[in-house]
Amino acid sequence: MPSWIAVDHPDFRTRLRQLELPLNCLDGFWSTESELTAEVSAVLEYRDGCVQLRPLDKALGNPVTVDFIHGKTGFRFLRASHEMVVKAVAGRSKEPLTVFDATAGLGRDSFILAAAGYPVTAVERHPAIACLLWDGLDRAHLSLEGASVAGRITLNWGSSQTILAQLAEPEQPDVVYMDPMFPERTKQALVKKEMRLFREVVGEDPDGELLLEVALGVARKRVVIKRPRKAEPVAGRKPGYQLLGKSSRFDVYPT
Ligand SMILES: C[S@@+](CC[C@H](N)C(=O)[O-])C[C@H]1O[C@@H](n2cnc3c(N)ncnc32)[C@H](O)[C@@H]1O
Repeated sequence: MPSWIAVDHPDFRTRLRQLELPLNCLDGFWSTESELTAEVSAVLEYRDGCVQLRPLDKALGNPVTVDFIHGKTGFRFLRASHEMVVKAVAGRSKEPLTVFDATAGLGRDSFILAAAGYPVTAVERHPAIACLLWDGLDRAHLSLEGASVAGRITLNWGSSQTILAQLAEPEQPDVVYMDPMFPERTKQALVKKEMRLFREVVGEDPDGELLLEVALGVARKRVVIKRPRKAEPVAGRKPGYQLLGKSSRFDVYPT
């Protein structure tokens, strides 16, 4: 049994069809709340017009939904050009760039990059996270503030290694951006409430090294990796240069 289930309800299935997410995305995860076992720590459901991931254990924090317009992301997308992720992706390029976000997650970085004007292809492989992301982006499409930004993002469900490796040459992106989950090393990091549920459900991304290898062979200009400020570079591979933030940094690999 996985650590989460999708609550089987006709409204949720209808919403998934509206979102045009591959219908087999949640195969093997559907269940009813009455069938829950002790191993299940969160449920994915459609409630109050949003897809949400709701923890069953209070220690895992609050339900997670994707909302690009209100709250933290909303504020950040209004001043996207100041964001470090935008500076790292832009490098010294003045010309327009295409970006492939290989680890889309809840889509915050994709949305900020799109708000800075880049066309972004965003790929997420985890089915529950993909549902949250598709739902949030769909609502952004319907909002006055977010529609034009959302229009620059194309979502894909699957493994970025596979999708990147299959791109025909004219489709290869200028920049591949990666923000893989890293192992928790400190207790302090564990306390970050908003990340607890996400981490519980997604786990770690042990194949970042492989993804970097594929990305370096495909990106026309650079690969950018977000890392915790003090972490080793992925695969111990020295980047061309780094941009340092308070708790994280961006390793840039020119190609
Ligand atoms: C730390 S989160 C990314 C957060 C994201 N940058 C944001 O702004 O919300 C990492 C995500 O990348 C996804 N991921 C990791 N490796 C992947 C791969 N090879 N292909 C597709 N998705 C991947 C994980 O499932 C996880 O949801």
